[in-house]
Amino acid sequence: LIMDGNGRWANKRGLPRLLGHRAGIAALERTVRAAGEMGIGFLSVYAFSTENWNRPQLEVMGLMALLRHYARRKVPELVKNGVRVRFCGARRGVPDEVLRIIDWSETETARCGRMTLLVCFNYGGRQEILDAIADAQSNGETISSEEDLRKHLYLPDVPDPDLIIRTSGELRISNFWLWQGSYSEYYFTDTLWPDFGAAELKKALQSY
Ligand code: IPE
Ligand code: IPE
Ligand code: MG
Repeated sequence: LIMDGNGRWANKRGLPRLLGHRAGIAALERTVRAAGEMGIGFLSVYAFSTENWNRPQLEVMGLMALLRHYARRKVPELVKNGVRVRFCGARRGVPDEVLRIIDWSETETARCGRMTLLVCFNYGGRQEILDAIADAQSNGETISSEEDLRKHLYLPDVPDPDLIIRTSGELRISNFWLWQGSYSEYYFTDTLWPDFGAAELKKALQSY
């Protein structure tokens, strides 16, 4: 899920962008619940890209605060619903207090097995490939096949996505799942992310 359109959702209502992001969190909760009920094994959400650091500092700080707030409050519920959380992205550059929450969420949900929620945070497909190459080099390995590279991706054991959904009408992938998405199906909807939920997810799955 490329969760796009929070800013435009807020703009349309004359609200600050951060309230759009907050409404986006509510949409995320609905969608995670719906995906669990539909029996989806892996759901990945693009929460913050390597390019999103270029946004105004106040917005970046607000997004970090929202993530911490969401994780701290919602992890017990995720545990109850059997949702395992795994983060996907570069740790370098992420503030320590955010890393601590990330690690805590992963530990708390480590034994949950109903669904895995992959939170792509400080994620960029190009950066991931560069990091994979650097990781291989530091082990003295040369990369000469897809498998050689794949095992150095952030989450090598996670299957490639079957379906990639982007909301808000933008027809781009904005650096999401560059390697893993080679054979994914794409679904684009004009719905802004804060308006997304079970019905929209179902429509996307039906199209798939
Ligand atoms: C997506 O909504 C959320 C993040 C990138 C964190 P945007 O903030 O990109 O909203 P628009 O695209 O400006 O409407
Ligand atoms: C993509 O949305 C990234 C996330 C949803 C986290 P953006 O709004 O950041 O992407 P661009 O700038 O429109 O390509
Ligand atoms: Mg956007």
